[in-house]
Parts: sequence; C-alpha cells; structure tokens
Amino acid sequence: MARRALRKLDAEIDLSRHLYTLEQLPTPLTCEALFGREAPWEVEMGSGKGLFISSAAQARPEHNFLGIEIARKYAAHCAARLQRKKLMNAAMIAGDGLRLFREFLPTAGIDAVHVYFPDPWWKARHRKRRVVNEAFLTDVVRVLKPGGMLHFWTDVEEYFQTSLDLIRGFPLLDGPLPVPEQTPEHDLDYRTHFERRKRKDNLPIYRSEFRRLA
Ligand SMILES: C[S@@+](CC[C@H](N)C(=O)[O-])C[C@H]1O[C@@H](n2cnc3c(N)ncnc32)[C@H](O)[C@@H]1O
Repeated sequence: MARRALRKLDAEIDLSRHLYTLEQLPTPLTCEALFGREAPWEVEMGSGKGLFISSAAQARPEHNFLGIEIARKYAAHCAARLQRKKLMNAAMIAGDGLRLFREFLPTAGIDAVHVYFPDPWWKARHRKRRVVNEAFLTDVVRVLKPGGMLHFWTDVEEYFQTSLDLIRGFPLLDGPLPVPEQTPEHDLDYRTHFERRKRKDNLPIYRSEFRRLA
C-alpha cells in the first residue's frame, strides 16, 4: 500500500531510550529491565507511524508500552514521536514482531496486545505472510496474563472473519467482546493513522477484543 513520505528526522535527536533492535533488548526481557519499573505492560504489533502508542502512553502514564515495527524508518519515526513528548513509559523496537512474541516476551507478562490494521496481503498465495496466524495467536495466549486483552482491528472484512475463525480455535481467548465505537473530535483522536484514513474515506472498520482466560 502506498505510504506518504515521513517527515525527516532531526539528526541530533537522541533515541537511545526509545528505539531498540531485538538484539539490543535486555535478556531476559522484563518490564523492570526495559522501563525501570514494574507496571502494567501493553505491546503493539506493527505500530506504523505511532499514533496509537504515543497517545496511549500519554493517556495512561501508569502503564508501560512497547511497540514493534518492521520498517526501520517508521520505527524511528515512532520513537522520535515518543522522545519529543518525553514519554518514558513507551519504547519502540525496529524488528519483526513475530520474533518478539516468539523469542523475547515473557510468559504471562503482558496485560494487553494491540494489533491494528495489519497488512492484508490480498493475494491468496501471500496470505501466509499475515501476522494474525496460528503461531502468533499461540504466542499471544502464552504472553498474556490471565485477564489480559487482545485488541484486533482491521478494515478488511475477509481478514477479520478469517482471524475470528482462527481465534475460535483458542478457547483461552474469550470473545469477540463488544467494542464501542468512538466519535473522534480531533484528528489525533483516532486510534491509529490507518483508522483515520479509512474512516475519512467512509470505509467500515471491524473491531474485536478478546480476554485471556485463566
Ligand atoms: C497497514 S500498517 C498499519 C499501521 C498502524 N497499526 C495503523 O493502524 O496505522 C501495518 C504495519 O505493520 C508493519 N508490520 C508488518 N509486518 C510486521 C511484523 N512482522 N513485525 C512488525 N511490524 C510489522 C508494517 O510495516 C506496517 O507499518
């Protein structure tokens, strides 16, 4: 999908507290090691330009937020957004989110997983590249605390239905639970950039959330 050019990053900006690669993460990966404090921990897969992670980190300073974005330029753009807002409760990883969930996140350590508008991979032969797949959901069940939430939104009805069918095979994920629709008053009130773009084009959004049972 075509993307608008990103604003050029200030070469002087210090991203050392907000941008990591998977290899730079502390091992074992804990909230304390990454954020310097124990607090509810939320993870976003595929942060794009970072509207969700920056506004959620600002709105919930008592939570820690970790975003991962495979496109390095976008990860750096998100990290700069967090740095400019001086949000010390949020950080970005430039890397593959599937690896983060598989190899790094602790078992029963995460309070919420957010997946918004993942790439649809329209062609049938490319569908295996979708991030909402069986292996990822297995990892989501492993990393979520009992009572933790999975949030999954997309504008692609077929991706939504296929994912819901897949999630039905994970009885520890209770849902889909009803998600109230918000009416944004401001451009930054949308949950993500993709939500803003799709809603301004009057396209439907399919929203779901699931609770990890004990
Ligand atoms: C369609 S965009 C949506 C971005 C954002 N969530 C939003 O709603 O505005 C999907 C994003 O997921 C990222 N992505 C795709 N596969 C990924 C992976 N395996 N790990 C991390 N990010 C990934 C893409 O680079 C892209 O930025």
